[in-house]
Parts: sequence; structure tokens; C-alpha cells
Amino acid sequence: ATPGAPGVHVTSTTKVQPSDGNTPRPDHLRHVIYITTAAAMGGFLFGYDSSVINGAVQGIRGRYDIGSLPLAQVVAVALLGSAIGAATAGRIADRIGRLHCMRISSVLFTVSAVGSALPFDIYDLAVWRVIGGFAIGMASVIGPAYIAEVSPAAYRGRFGSFQQGAIVLGIAISQLVNYGILQLADGDQRGNLAGLEAWQWMLGVMVVPAITYGVLSFTIPESPRFLISVGREPEAKKVLASVEDKNVDLDARVAEIELAMRREHKSTFKDLLNGRNFLPIVWVGIGLSAFQQLVGINVAFYYSATLWQSVGINPSSSFLYSFTTSIVNIIGTIIAISLVDRVGRKPLAIVGSCGMTVALAFEAWAFSAHLVDGKLPSTQGTTALVAAHVFVLFFALSWGVIVWVLLGEMFPNKIRAAALGVAASAQWIANYAITASFPSLSADWSLSGTYIIYTCFAALSLPFVLLFVKETKGKTLEEMG
Ligand code: GLC
Repeated sequence: ATPGAPGVHVTSTTKVQPSDGNTPRPDHLRHVIYITTAAAMGGFLFGYDSSVINGAVQGIRGRYDIGSLPLAQVVAVALLGSAIGAATAGRIADRIGRLHCMRISSVLFTVSAVGSALPFDIYDLAVWRVIGGFAIGMASVIGPAYIAEVSPAAYRGRFGSFQQGAIVLGIAISQLVNYGILQLADGDQRGNLAGLEAWQWMLGVMVVPAITYGVLSFTIPESPRFLISVGREPEAKKVLASVEDKNVDLDARVAEIELAMRREHKSTFKDLLNGRNFLPIVWVGIGLSAFQQLVGINVAFYYSATLWQSVGINPSSSFLYSFTTSIVNIIGTIIAISLVDRVGRKPLAIVGSCGMTVALAFEAWAFSAHLVDGKLPSTQGTTALVAAHVFVLFFALSWGVIVWVLLGEMFPNKIRAAALGVAASAQWIANYAITASFPSLSADWSLSGTYIIYTCFAALSLPFVLLFVKETKGKTLEEMG
């Protein structure tokens, strides 16, 4: 029996059970829920940070008196910081472990929240935002990798979805907090609140989740797969005993993971390559990431107010629609969490691609109407609003969740962190491309034209899934190799 693991009875004759057939004991399940939630705090920071800036943008513009194009660059530059953070995190996580990586991200994020709230000038602000972006990029890699590595196979999809659940909560809560701060400052982003302007509070408040993330990382165990990869088997066995199904033979489980790792490639960046090219599995990860962004999801979250106001909806209703899309996003995510381990990853992604394509096509059609008195005619106006919500719903119950779950579980153990880093980095670059191009694309090429592009990407995501994505439901990480 394994010392320190009450209730886990192991004999040398116990057969290794594939984890998918068994039900973990309820106490284990609670423990996994706790550690998964703690790790998903990184996702919360991801959602919070990437959307908080929208509420603060007008205040920053007023304070530093800059035009909208340089301002858009200051906003978007954080996403490039995230791309670098994601690419770096994989290697750091393989060297020093998943937990230390979370702590580095928490420290950088805390420092960046304080710096962004109290900048000397706009350049200083941009530097702090890049540092914060770097931290978010790290967290976006560590969360899915860690969660996949500690979850029993039968529940891995559901636990993996916590990352996206935390991202969507972070987006919604940042909007609420911004709204609250704005109310206290009488609706003025530059309004004075205890010596600071409202927008400074919006950015500064992020120290709370940032510190919480770091503190929580001290209450959860290191990933058993990482421990085995650095030769710390006894510790790995203890962690496995606290998370795995009750009938699993722990010695055999450790041996199975070790064996799988011996068969696998090494984890340096060079080993992601096959000659001069990435391994095919790494390309699939990059494709998943790119399509998730190229359907234009973050236009719905970063620019919703601008979008609705440009077709004649008044500012207070446009705030309301930003909020209702966030609620739909949360509802879709909950649906996905309940389905992902039952129906699998691929069917959800397929339904999502079809639904998003149709909704985006309706949106492109609605935006093609001529504005009358600065407004869309009523049929098109209603269609645009309904289609935007339907689009977010289909995204949330499919690609929003599935991509983060798959990126956590689809790569072999030894390249997981590094490959996930490359794929997540591609996702941040695609996010940057869409976010930075939206204002000029929609101005030069029309809103409708821009939505036709997103519709095409949504349509292309379907053959991509059908041809290249393998179902991972219910398999142990080792069975996938
Ligand atoms: C996914 C995307 C992220 C987006 C979010 C919206 O997490 O990776 O960019 O903001 O979904 O729910």
C-alpha cells in the first residue's frame, strides 16, 4: 500500500485499470476539483486582464492625450507580450516545474498591475502592460497542461474546461468591476476616487486575483508527470494516490507513465521539430489555436461597445449587450463542461463550427444593409443582435472550451509543455492580428466584409477538425502517445 494515501489498496497483483472505466472516490474528486480550480485562477487572470483594458481605454486616452491608432497599439501590444510569455512558459515549466511557473506568473502579474495603475507616461504604461501580457501568456500554458496532468482520464475534459470557465468568468467580472468603479466615479473614467483616476483603479484591482493565484499555488501538489520526468517517483506516486481512481495500481501507473516517457521525444524546442519542420501534432495544435481566434471571437468581447454604437445603438444599451454576450458565453461554457466527457471533443467542435458559420453569415448579411439615420433597419438590427449572441453561444459550447482542453491533453508527456507553449503563442499572435486589424478593416472594407472573412474562417474550421483532430475522450495521457 502507498503510505500517506488512506484507502488506496495496492497489491503487486492488482491489474492496471484504464482510468476511464472507474469512478474516482468522492473525496478524491473534491480534491481534484480544488486543485483544478486553483490552477484555473490563471485562466481567470487571462480573461480579466484581456478585457479589463476596454473599460479603461477612454480614460487613458484622455489622460495622455493620444489618438486612437497609437492607443489601439498600446492596448494590443500586451497580446504580443502574451505570445512571448506562452512560448517561454513551456520550457520554464519543463525545467523548474508547473508550480514555480505559476508563481513567476503571479509575481510578474502583481508587479504589472501596480505599474499599470501608476505609470509615469504612456510608454511606461505600455511596458507594464507587456509584462502583464507575458504573465498571462505563461498562465495560459500552465493551466491546461497542469490540469490535464492531474486529472483522472474519465473527468479530464470536464476539469480541463475549468480553464475556459475561469477565462469567461474573468471577462464577465472585469466588466462588472469596471462598471462598479465607473459608477463610484460618476460615470467618468477620469473621475477622482481617493486620489487616483477611475481607470487607474480598474487596472490596479488586478493585484487581488494576481496575488491569490500565487498564494493558491502553495496549496496544490506538483504535477505527477513533471515529477516523474525529473526522477522524483515517490512524490509522484503520492500525488497520483490523491487524484487517481481508487482501483488503480500506483506502482504500475508510475511504471506506465515512465515507459511512455521513455518512448517519447524530449522536451526541448528542437525536439518539437522533425528536421526543419514542426511535428504534425504541433501543427494541429497551432491550427486549433489559430482557428479559435480567426473566427473573430474577441471582436465580440474587446470591441462590442464600438461595434454596436457604429450601427446606431446607444452607449448604455451597447454596454448592456456586452454584458448579455458575456452571460451567454458563461451559459455556453457550462453546457460544454457537462457534455465534453460524454459526447467527446470532436462532435462539440463540429457542431460549433457549423453554428458559428451560420450565425456569422447572418451577421455579415445584417451589417451589409445601408444605415438609415445612422441606424440599421429594424430587421437587420435585430438579426445582427440575435446572430451575435448565437455566435457567442456556439463558440462557447465548442471551440472556446475544446481548444484549451485539447491543447492540455493532445501532446505526448515529454513535449506537452513546450508544444502547448508554441500553440498558445500562435493563438496570442492570431488574437493580436484580429484585434489590431479590426478597426481599420471595418473602416476600409466595411463591417460586412470583415464578417465575411470571419465566416470563411469558421467554415474552414470544419474540414480542419474532420481531417486532423483525433478524439481524446476517456483515454489516459499515456494511451494517446
Ligand atoms: C477563449 C479564447 C479567448 C477568448 C475567450 C472568450 O478562451 O482563447 O481568446 O477571449 O475564449 O470566451
